[in-house]
Amino acid sequence: MRVCLWVFVVVIVFGSGDGKHAYQRLRTERISGSAGDVLEDDPVGRLKVYVYELPSKYNKKLLQKDPRCLTHMFAAEIFMHRFLLSSPVRTLNPDEADWFYAPIYPTCDLTPTGLPLPFKSPRMMRSAVQLISSNWPYWNRTEGSDHFFVVPHDFGACFHYQEEKAIERGILPLLQRATLVQTFGQRNHVCLNEGSITIPPYAPPQKMQARQIPLDTPRSIFVYFRGLFYDVNNDPEGGYYARGARAAVWENFKNNPLFDISTDHPATYYEDMQRAIFCLCPLGWAPWSPRLVEAVVFGCIPVIIADDIVLPFADAIPWEEIGVFVAEEDVPDLDTILTSIPSEVILRKQRLLANPSMKRAMLFPQPAQPGDAFHQILNGLARKLPHDRTAYLKPGQKVLNWTTGPVGDLKPW
Ligand SMILES: *[C@@H]1O[C@H](CO)[C@@H](O)[C@H](O)[C@H]1NC(C)=O
Ligand SMILES: *[C@@H]1O[C@H](CO)[C@@H](O)[C@H](O)[C@H]1NC(C)=O
Repeated sequence: MRVCLWVFVVVIVFGSGDGKHAYQRLRTERISGSAGDVLEDDPVGRLKVYVYELPSKYNKKLLQKDPRCLTHMFAAEIFMHRFLLSSPVRTLNPDEADWFYAPIYPTCDLTPTGLPLPFKSPRMMRSAVQLISSNWPYWNRTEGSDHFFVVPHDFGACFHYQEEKAIERGILPLLQRATLVQTFGQRNHVCLNEGSITIPPYAPPQKMQARQIPLDTPRSIFVYFRGLFYDVNNDPEGGYYARGARAAVWENFKNNPLFDISTDHPATYYEDMQRAIFCLCPLGWAPWSPRLVEAVVFGCIPVIIADDIVLPFADAIPWEEIGVFVAEEDVPDLDTILTSIPSEVILRKQRLLANPSMKRAMLFPQPAQPGDAFHQILNGLARKLPHDRTAYLKPGQKVLNWTTGPVGDLKPW
């Protein structure tokens, strides 16, 4: 078997003439998802967003206190605010708005080591909703159905980083009717509402772009991954961290020469991804991480190991065609699965990945660029218009229960 694998790798990677050439001279291919050919849509003129003006304690003050919030993987909550302030879709007249946006940074509360703590987020959100519902008439009209919130934390608006606790909490009751823009995406999960918009986590675009290596560099690594396999502190046996999928990758392939995997994060990390054919994207704390963004940006075919995952902008990006999906239980066969993919299939995935619109959609650049993740969020919101008639409540009708949820959440913030 080993011999067989090696022959395959030698052929596709180092190739003799033609094969190699084909990998180097990549044509790009148009991308279309289930919503059609929409990645390059321009949202301007298709929706108007009203940005509430909130006291700075909900946003800017938090950032002042900890500027690291701008670089962690959940920074989209801050960049989206900045983007909307100067976006042509912004309207200063709330009466003509299709969508209302409350700029709140619920994830900007970091431990000394930089991990976001979501414990205050429910009270903060509640306080903000209280404020907008008493100072403006728009919340009460729909109880949030025409409002969106950016909640990029691990389990979105469930506001807990442990899955069990997050499930127990559920989505914050006051946000039940709102559209949630979140990185968390998993089918049939209480922390993902139908109609939410799943976005990529934030990965620093300038840093990534600065590290591009020549496009014709051969891809000499078959499978690449850097990251945790075990949560040594909380789960040394590897039973529940990443549902055991990462541990299974390590145990099965740590000594396999096709697999360049380790926990060490080398200085050449970004360059190495550009030299790899497949990049593993196994679930982690959250179901997935910036690994996916990096793989797409660097043209490394993402191997997604996360059952029931909902990937970012899945109605606009044909993930099935770009990536490889491996069921968690099939991890022990990962080598056979990947080496059995015909080279023309690999080439087609690489061509799709080479499409610049694909990379743009994964990034939150400063300043924003047409087609980037900000624009994809707006496109997603525009596709949800017009609002359903049930969005608007009858006079006096109330749906939300303001006193439900954990008692701790009801305390003032
Ligand atoms: C919205 O409804 C709440 C309670 O249901 C009320 O306290 C608040 O004053 C209302 N807001 C406006 C702007 O009328
Ligand atoms: C709201 O929720 C609380 C706590 O779960 C419950 O006691 C109360 O009856 C609910 N109110 C309504 C109007 O359903």
